[in-house]
Amino acid sequence: MTEPTVPPRKKITLPYLFKKVADASPITWLTCYDYPTAYLQEQAGIEMILVGDSLGMTMLGYDSTLPVTMDDMVRHAQAVRRGAPTAFVVGDMPYMTYQPSVETAIRNAGRFMSECGCDAIKLEGGIEQADKIKGIVSAGIPAIGHLGLTPQSVSALGGYRVQGKNALLAKKIIDNAKALEQAGAFAILLEMVPDRVCQIITERAEGCIIMSLGSGPNAHGQLLIYHDMFGLYPKFKPKMAKVFGNAGEVILNGLKNYHDEVISKQFPQPENWFGIPDEEFEELKKTLS
Ligand code: KIV
Repeated sequence: MTEPTVPPRKKITLPYLFKKVADASPITWLTCYDYPTAYLQEQAGIEMILVGDSLGMTMLGYDSTLPVTMDDMVRHAQAVRRGAPTAFVVGDMPYMTYQPSVETAIRNAGRFMSECGCDAIKLEGGIEQADKIKGIVSAGIPAIGHLGLTPQSVSALGGYRVQGKNALLAKKIIDNAKALEQAGAFAILLEMVPDRVCQIITERAEGCIIMSLGSGPNAHGQLLIYHDMFGLYPKFKPKMAKVFGNAGEVILNGLKNYHDEVISKQFPQPENWFGIPDEEFEELKKTLS
C-alpha cells in the first residue's frame, strides 16, 4: 500500500455536506467494509462511506443481505472507521434491527454511533419506517432513508429490478421520499429509480440530500458499490455499476503466478527470506547432536 499522497483533510461533517449541496457540487459516496479499502478511499478523497449490509454478499458470501447481524456490521464499521478517520461514515442497519419497533431501531442505531464512531445510519423503507427515522433522529442520530430497490425486501419486490417504472409506483416513491424527509431524514438514497423520478424528488427536497445509486445524474451525489467498481464480486455485475478497474483480474493473475512460481521453485528467491550469520550457524551446529 502506498504512503498518503494527499494532505490530511478536515473531518467531513453534515454542514460540509449541505454546503456541497448549496454549491451544486456532487457528493461522492462508496460502500466499504474493511480497513485497507477505507484507507484507500480516504486517500482518494471520497467524502461518504457506507458500511452496507451488502457486506453479507460481498464479504461473507451469503446469497442475500438478510443473514447479516448487528455484530457483523459493528465489526466491519469499526475497521472502516480506523481506516478512514475523516470520512462521513454511515452504518447500514441490517434486516430486523429496526423493523420491529422504534426502541429496537434506536438501540441498534446507537451501537453504530457508540461502538463504531459512525456519523449516521441508513435504513430501508418508506412511510412505514418513518416512525423509526423520527425516533432515531430524536435520539440525536443523523438518519438516511433508502427507497427504490431495497435489498432487504427483494422477495416482496420480485427481484433486483428497477423500481417506480409506472406512474403509480413512481408517485409512491415520491410520496415516501417526502414522508422520510418530514420524519427528519437528512438524506435519502434512491436505488434503481428512473432518472426523471429521481430528478423530481431532488427538485422537491427541502433540506434533504438526495443520493443516487443507478438513479441518474439529477441527485446531490452518487453512490456505487465498491466491489462492482473493481470486478470484485463474482456472482453478478449490476447494469448501473461502472467498472473503474479490474482489481479482481489483477489479483487472480497474481495468485496464478504465485501458484506457478511455487511449484516451479522460482519463488522464493534470497530477497524473500532471512538468513543467520555463518558464525552463529556454526555455533548452532555444535549444539546439535
Ligand atoms: O448495503 C448496501 O450496500 C446498500 C446499497 C445497496 C445501497 O444498502
